[in-house]
Amino acid sequence: MKPIKVGLLGMGTVGTGVLRIVEGHQDDLQKQVGSLIRIEKVLVQDKSKSRRYPVEEGRITDNAWDIVDDPAIDVIVEVMGGIEPAKTYMLAALEKGKHIVTANKDLMALHGAEILAKAAEKHCDVFYEASVAGGIPIIRTLIEGFSSDRITKIMGIVNGTTNYILTKMSQEGASYVDVLKEAQELGYAESDPTSDVEGLDAARKMAILGTLGFHASLSLDDVQVKGISQVSKEDILYGKSLGYEIKLLGIAERQDDMISVGVQPTLVKKSHPLASVNGVFNAVYVYGEAVGETMFYGPGAGEMPTATSVVADLVAVVKNLKLGVNGRTMFVPYKEKKLKTAEQ
Ligand code: NAP
Ligand code: HSE
Repeated sequence: MKPIKVGLLGMGTVGTGVLRIVEGHQDDLQKQVGSLIRIEKVLVQDKSKSRRYPVEEGRITDNAWDIVDDPAIDVIVEVMGGIEPAKTYMLAALEKGKHIVTANKDLMALHGAEILAKAAEKHCDVFYEASVAGGIPIIRTLIEGFSSDRITKIMGIVNGTTNYILTKMSQEGASYVDVLKEAQELGYAESDPTSDVEGLDAARKMAILGTLGFHASLSLDDVQVKGISQVSKEDILYGKSLGYEIKLLGIAERQDDMISVGVQPTLVKKSHPLASVNGVFNAVYVYGEAVGETMFYGPGAGEMPTATSVVADLVAVVKNLKLGVNGRTMFVPYKEKKLKTAEQ
């Protein structure tokens, strides 16, 4: 059976995990898709950097076009991050009929509609499970698991770095600056951690979840954002003395034709399950008119949890490739009538 050839854009935290899983779980993957999945070429910025996972020199390139223009590559896995040049590479790859798996919430929250429109035009898949809540399969759950329901609210902790920081400040009295550094070393934080601590990363994720859950077209501009950079140890101690933990919560709600989406540090009663979501873990509540309340919990960032979601998407793409179908790509290209902000 012909192997499926994959081009991996990026070999940092997530890309390294993708290599480990694809190459380490090859037997199980082959049993599911019926062919070998081979990571043919890997894009990095700096070829001289020492790597945590051994890859033969011939497979590594610092020229993305070696991958995007290679007619033998069937699927691109984009885990390099950022808007450009990732967007250009993705659109060019789609133009050539390649399917895409990405973990890039910055790109999907800002340009998802354009990318998915190109994918639809070219009959290609673009799957992005790892863009929200790391190892929790929340995107496929929203698209597939709740397709029968009318979702009214999505609420949760969707940033691992800030939850790690708040947890360590609360439980160990650690300093904000020290724990942020630790989160960066552990590979949880974005390359510019301002996105994490100022709430933008969570806001992008809430825009994606709101878009999918409410069949709307939400962007970062529609989200009210406040991060944790102004939360002090004193705030946390004071909250604790009153029986609360401070958590960075994202809340997306709809009522009739109004949608509100916001991210902000929130006092959560200790008896509430979200107060016990600690460290890099995330949790997402989904409320549906028919199903009622559901909760999804798991690691929200880091090499292997995130790579689990990326490779699950890769398996889904390969299954579709074999069946000659596409699916699970949609952002609905219309706006709800009126958006109201979280503060109104
Ligand atoms: P990272 O550790 O910084 O790795 C980025 C990789 O991309 C590196 O290998 C880098 O090359 C390469 N790269 C970056 N810009 C490039 C360019 N212009 N040309 C060529 N190569 C380039 O990032 P990461 O943490 O793995 O995150 C990757 C993506 O996954 C981001 O979109 C992020 O938001 C998303 N994500 C991350 C996590 C997580 O826990 N880290 C979780 C969910 C989603 P060098 O190695 O040579 O520098
Ligand atoms: N920086 C992100 C976080 C990575 O800490 O949640 C996972 O999306």
